[in-house]
Amino acid sequence: MVTGGFRTRTFMEEAIASGETDVIGLGRPLCTDPDTPRDLLDARIDKTVCHEDHVKLAQRGFFSPVSPLMPLKIINVLGGQAWYYQQIFRLADDQAVDPELSILKAVGAFVKDEFSRSRAVKKARRGRAG
Ligand SMILES: Cc1cc2nc3c(=O)[nH]c(=O)nc-3n(C[C@H](O)[C@H](O)[C@H](O)COP(=O)(O)O)c2cc1C
Repeated sequence: MVTGGFRTRTFMEEAIASGETDVIGLGRPLCTDPDTPRDLLDARIDKTVCHEDHVKLAQRGFFSPVSPLMPLKIINVLGGQAWYYQQIFRLADDQAVDPELSILKAVGAFVKDEFSRSRAVKKARRGRAG
């Protein structure tokens, strides 16, 4: 089984045909397009969405993932993860995905979610103790 970077049906078919892998995993494309495997298998699409090309603070230079400043590198990586989480949360809430969501907004929403979840857990624990 291999996961990571598979984006075109041709490449996936070649990987299977070569015997290098029996199963192909998809991660990021499914966060906005969960029907992708079925659409690929039914030949409705030839390639997956590829958000990683734009989910970053900047394409190149100081604010990009190759920034010389570690905090900016970290925001690009964690922000990317937060971006995908936000898309999953939207789907779970029956909302349309938001491919235009900015990485900073995704980070903000993620941090807010984490705090409210942690408050809810503490409240539940207090309730159990009492
Ligand atoms: C929202 C999200 C959550 C993930 N969680 C995990 C995880 O818990 N454990 C893990 O090994 N990989 C995790 N991954 C990594 C994926 O399994 C996968 O290896 C990675 O996204 C590369 O595949 P892709 O190019 O198809 O996205 C996660 C990826 C995303 C986007």
